[in-house]
Amino acid sequence: GKGTYPYYMLKEIDEQPAVLRRILQHYYVDGQYKIDEEILKAIQQADRLYIVAAGTSYHAGFASKAFFEEMTKTPVELCIASEFGYNMPLLSEKPLFIYISQSGETADSRQVLVKTKALGYPALTITNVAGSTLSREADYTLSLHAGPEIAVASTKAYTAQISVMAVLAKAVGDYIGNIAASEFHLVKELSLVATSMVAVLAEKERIAEKVEEHLKGTRNSFYIGRGEDYYVSMEAALKLKEISYIQCEGFAAGELKHGTIALIEENTPVQAILSHKALAPHTRGNIMEVISRGAKVLTVVSDDLANEDDDIIVPSVHPYLTSLAMVVPTQMIAYYATLQRGLDVDKPRNLAKSVTVE
Ligand code: F6R
Repeated sequence: GKGTYPYYMLKEIDEQPAVLRRILQHYYVDGQYKIDEEILKAIQQADRLYIVAAGTSYHAGFASKAFFEEMTKTPVELCIASEFGYNMPLLSEKPLFIYISQSGETADSRQVLVKTKALGYPALTITNVAGSTLSREADYTLSLHAGPEIAVASTKAYTAQISVMAVLAKAVGDYIGNIAASEFHLVKELSLVATSMVAVLAEKERIAEKVEEHLKGTRNSFYIGRGEDYYVSMEAALKLKEISYIQCEGFAAGELKHGTIALIEENTPVQAILSHKALAPHTRGNIMEVISRGAKVLTVVSDDLANEDDDIIVPSVHPYLTSLAMVVPTQMIAYYATLQRGLDVDKPRNLAKSVTVE
């Protein structure tokens, strides 16, 4: 049950630091990463990795792409499950398919799995539900260990997906003797992420007030960011839309001026995410551009880049793992915006927890 929580979503947001620690307990045993050698070999032998997923799981794939490529030295391509059937990318000689799915039952993803299996390509499913269809039908499975996710809006599954992808990337990197992997201390870095999450989760009241001030009465808004922060923006926008019904677009900050900035008018809310040092000055420039067109901006910034005017400060984490830390305040933004509108946070209209139709 949800215990003393008013909604499952808030409980699941709060569980995230514990989920990260649980993932480490499952996958890091006696000083070793515990991933089947079969899986490590399959990834080593592949010349390209295709991640197939939908919605939030698709966004978790994006958040994992950079470190996965760095650790495994193998290119990673993202595929929207529902597009794959008629928009199939030109496949490499030795592809490996990675299916990321909280439920393991998403029909769009399953359809692709059936197809790639028929073509003879190996498949790995990363899912929260052991024994689910996608898990049974793939050659290999890794579990998220996030515990049941009840709220329709996915939160802890997203952070668990990125964390398990990080464990897998690190294990492959060590397996192939990649120096970059031996220098990436994942256990320590994930613990720092959990600590960062705890600090942000302690700011609920302050964040709720900021949200009230920033999003009250609005019908539309934007998230902007660059690099990893752009990928988090996509996820943050999806979360806000699906439960608060505020129309929201996650945008690459530098792309705004190529058209979309025309939508900024007096008091349009823009949420900016900044966690990467080299990119922050450019995103700051984009913030000035939208402010000069009347936007009001709420900033979500890692503490190493923050100044006194910033709104939500997130203790900084390893550059590979920023999505894990930065997404948490955006989940809270979606939660409080929805609560403040008097809507049912856990059961948004038109949506079901798992999408078993194509
Ligand atoms: C958004 C959300 C959906 C799912 C998507 C894929 O909060 O929950 O976008 O992420 O339907 O579902 P799974 O991961 O079960 O394949």
